[in-house]
Amino acid sequence: MQKVVSGIRPTGNLHLGNYFGAVKSFVQMQNEYDCLFFIADWHSLTTHPKPENIRRSTRTILAEYLACGIDPDKAAIYVQSDVKQVLELYLYLNMNAYLGELERVTSFKEKVRKQPDNVNAGLLTYPSLMAADILMHKADKVPVGKDQEQNMEMARLFARRFNRIYEVEYFKEPESFHFNQKAVKVPGLDGSGKMGKSEGNAIYLCDDEATIRKKVMRAVTDSGPTEPNQQKPEPIQNLFTLMEIVSAPDTYNFFNDQYNNMAIRYGDMKKQLAADINDFCAPIRERILAYSADEEYLAKVARLGAEKAAESAQKTIEEVRHIIGFR
Ligand code: ADP
Ligand code: TRP
Repeated sequence: MQKVVSGIRPTGNLHLGNYFGAVKSFVQMQNEYDCLFFIADWHSLTTHPKPENIRRSTRTILAEYLACGIDPDKAAIYVQSDVKQVLELYLYLNMNAYLGELERVTSFKEKVRKQPDNVNAGLLTYPSLMAADILMHKADKVPVGKDQEQNMEMARLFARRFNRIYEVEYFKEPESFHFNQKAVKVPGLDGSGKMGKSEGNAIYLCDDEATIRKKVMRAVTDSGPTEPNQQKPEPIQNLFTLMEIVSAPDTYNFFNDQYNNMAIRYGDMKKQLAADINDFCAPIRERILAYSADEEYLAKVARLGAEKAAESAQKTIEEVRHIIGFR
């Protein structure tokens, strides 16, 4: 069976971008593939989170994974730092990762710009740690949103380079994968860009109805179309993209026709969008609360997941040591 690996950093709650960009694929893939889903807590250290935040976020994401429908009987769910073999592979991959190429990664360059006083080596080598997560399990497919494409290219590059240096056909190149044909980018509500935690524009799966309504009603719009069938400016297109993702096709078509006929009332559209987002989130929200209350169960899921992940990781690390020339 083909293997699937993916992770999400525990830096807050899951939002609609995480869900439609990644977690939805996880849920669909667990029925067809041998899946390992993890919480990337080592990756989260690049931003120096407080210990209590790491503990809380890790539990939260675990409960949210389960609430979204990841089934621990089908897929392994584990915490990255429970599988120490990854660190060793990270070290080996770093020996073959070059400063120039790491510095050219767009997300690294962005961090350098945004947080010039915390450009740490963990940020620089973020792609090698991610590659270690993936190559560790010889993943065939990696479900991630569009924003992770460059990291995925690095993982393939590191796999090829390892094979070339040691003259082996050992690592296979992992493929970025989205269950529904193409990768989606969920837009934010602030008029431009993607939905993201650090962007401060996210709707979280655990947001209650009033919060969802408030966030949607605040979304940036304009004074309306000035001619029939005109191209939508970005903030408006973003609202339609969100509606396309969460609402029924009829609802989307209704408001799209209204836009094209210049009869659109953004207030009505936002009310509908908020209601549809709430309908989508409500059952997940209830399950998040239920799982969050059961710490014993969460700990058991993580333990079983780690055991399964460690088994495949141990095999890889022993083979890699042998290839490299270690005992
Ligand atoms: P954030 O950008 O909010 O910090 P992460 O970087 O932790 O989110 O992303 C975790 C997963 O969710 C990744 O697979 C990423 O591709 C996906 N993802 C995050 N935001 C979006 C978005 N707006 N659209 C699509 N996928 C997204
Ligand atoms: N870089 C990913 C993100 O920010 C998280 C991640 C870490 C990951 N390791 C991974 C995703 C391995 C897929 C596979 O979303």
